[in-house]
Amino acid sequence: MRAYYERRAAEYDDWWLGTGLLANRHRPGWHEEAAALTRTLEALPRARTLDVACGTGFLTQHLPGEITGLDQSASMLELARAKVPDGRFLQADALELAFADNAFERLFTSFFYGHLEEDDRVTFLSEASRVAGELIVVDSALHAEVEPVEWQERVLNDGSRWQVYKRFFEPDRLAEELGGRVLFAGRWFVAVQA
Ligand SMILES: C[S@@+](CC[C@H](N)C(=O)[O-])C[C@H]1O[C@@H](n2cnc3c(N)ncnc32)[C@H](O)[C@@H]1O
Repeated sequence: MRAYYERRAAEYDDWWLGTGLLANRHRPGWHEEAAALTRTLEALPRARTLDVACGTGFLTQHLPGEITGLDQSASMLELARAKVPDGRFLQADALELAFADNAFERLFTSFFYGHLEEDDRVTFLSEASRVAGELIVVDSALHAEVEPVEWQERVLNDGSRWQVYKRFFEPDRLAEELGGRVLFAGRWFVAVQA
């Protein structure tokens, strides 16, 4: 997953924007829903926030409060720094957070949790609850064209092919899994606050 995302960084926002190789993907209501998700995040109370696996910073830029972004990919971080000039960004491993207990008020993560297999999921949740009192997970909603758990083949602009583990979530099930409440439930996106 790490090598794949480092390689994908320059074309990553095509997924959000529906451009490049994703220009022809049929995703009715995608942009409107992304805007609604963004507004939900902007309406959160300000908090000292760690955005784990922040990627290009596409959602990071909408998080209220003092922001630290973390990702393993140097190329992703370069793009995130440009989007969030006031943020602090660190290249590090999401599963071994080098922060003191309760160093943050909120830990945010988007489209990362659903890539974690069981053992890594347990490690991540334990680290998340150690460094912050609040957890917000944004991820992909389960819908008719996908299975709850998939090994997907992904193709990049350079033609390289990658196998990626990916889960899709029903909002209530994710809330139950995380011990939290549903913050956003759409056709494409879910968000849970725990
Ligand atoms: C699907 S992207 C999500 C990016 C961003 N959060 C978003 O919402 O667009 C997954 C991100 O996880 C990062 N990542 C994968 N494994 C990681 C790890 N072990 N530690 C830190 N970041 C990791 C990748 O580099 C990539 O930027």
